[in-house]
Amino acid sequence: MWPLQPTASSLVGGNAPAESTETALTAVPRARAEDRNTTVGESELSINPNDVTPSASRLTTSLRDIGYDSATAVADLIDNSLSANARRIDIVIESAGPHSWILVADDGDGMSRSEVTEALRFGSRRDYSAVDLGRFGLGLKTASLSQAKRVTVVSRRAPINRTISTRTLDLDHIQELDVWQVYEPELDREALAVARDFVAESPGTVIVLEKLDRVFEGIDPAGGWGARRLDKLADDLDRYLGMVFHRFLEGTADREMPLTIAINGQKVRPWNPFAPDEPATEVMGPYHFRLTGSDAQNHSVTLERYILPARSHYSSPEEFDRLSGPRKWNRQQGIYFYRADRMVQSGTWAGIRSIDEHTKFARAALNFPTALDEHFRVNVAKMKAVVPANLRELISPPVNELCAAANASYRRASLVERRSNGGQRAGRHSGGLQSAGVSLRVAAALAGATGALEQIAEVLRDSDPEAAEALGF
Ligand SMILES: Nc1ncnc2c1ncn2[C@@H]1O[C@H](COP(=O)(O)OP(=O)(O)OP(=O)(O)O)[C@@H](O)[C@H]1O
Ligand SMILES: [Mg+2]
Repeated sequence: MWPLQPTASSLVGGNAPAESTETALTAVPRARAEDRNTTVGESELSINPNDVTPSASRLTTSLRDIGYDSATAVADLIDNSLSANARRIDIVIESAGPHSWILVADDGDGMSRSEVTEALRFGSRRDYSAVDLGRFGLGLKTASLSQAKRVTVVSRRAPINRTISTRTLDLDHIQELDVWQVYEPELDREALAVARDFVAESPGTVIVLEKLDRVFEGIDPAGGWGARRLDKLADDLDRYLGMVFHRFLEGTADREMPLTIAINGQKVRPWNPFAPDEPATEVMGPYHFRLTGSDAQNHSVTLERYILPARSHYSSPEEFDRLSGPRKWNRQQGIYFYRADRMVQSGTWAGIRSIDEHTKFARAALNFPTALDEHFRVNVAKMKAVVPANLRELISPPVNELCAAANASYRRASLVERRSNGGQRAGRHSGGLQSAGVSLRVAAALAGATGALEQIAEVLRDSDPEAAEALGF
């Protein structure tokens, strides 16, 4: 067993100071149910009246509910893989009733044995670079436990050293003993064998989720519903990951290497909300703003604005449907927030205006670096951001300008559509006019006024050739 006291700073907010992993681990006091609130004296344990070490069982349980769903939880694991320079991420979802499992495998830098243990600490310690998607030292644990009661990290660091390190954090174990502890699991389970295969030949990390109580919430995992829930999860993941990591999948993110994500072997296709490949997409001028970050430096926030084409101007009807997005046109309008190229929120005008049918083709990107996390109040689940009040004032005019232009474009497109429908009606009517022309000729003949009709037709051919043609004159 490896004791794992959480870092205090991670639980009260802020980043833990970086310490060497070895120091962090050896400095950890034992924290069992019977000796919590104690310190190790020279020869005996004594009560420390100032020790407020949290209850492992209560805290881990309550941290399950900080707002993840299955897709956002997996996305948080992928953030870690990106920070570890992964090029390929495989998600495997295995349906086996109550023994179903999910794994997220990457070919990133991997971790040493002590790093694997540290990774499972709530508030794990490390330094973050400017483009690092991690921040709190919590995501791996909170995301995993939001969906599953057991998370195992399988990792191999060095290409030459074939050592694979494996550690498990198990909520049932923590609840039973009320200890912050990980353990080395038996390797006889299929999920762990598959996980080890992923790192058998080269470095990488695999996160294995088992005891998927939250994934199967409200249903019996053993029945057909269990399998259907996992199928739906695969679909949801495909859509969500394709959206939030689209810049990485397209190779447009600020990162040297491309990224592939596959779900059960199927590649995830990027979903770019701004339809850059559609020639009729209109791009409006970008805006740049500067905000002072937590590092006291000035950082740039950019607002990019797009008006997507109306239905008839897409390369195909399928593209129109695909670009409508997971929540469809109306609810996909708005500002998309990108934190270091990873989308953290979409489908809102951030309090500047409300969703409107006439602005449904207006979309904007708001890009900010991680140094501005505190301004944007990015939370642990990285699925929400709030525009700082002073920035909202600055972006309101360009956002309103975008919406006014999108509104005008929407109305123009509707008018053209109405006209062309009207044109079709005129077309149908023109068939009617031809038969009216025939009727006029017949009537003129019966009235003995054929000559008069010919004179009228001749004048009409000069004065209104279209009408003459429509009447068949
Ligand atoms: N796939 C991975 N490859 C390599 N290292 C990893 C991987 N996943 C996690 N780690 C290590 O474990 C640590 C803890 O991960 P965790 O997601 O809990 O916190 P974080 O990424 O530092 O911050 P955040 O809470 O913002 O996600 C990471 O900082 C990283 O050092
Ligand atoms: Mg993380």
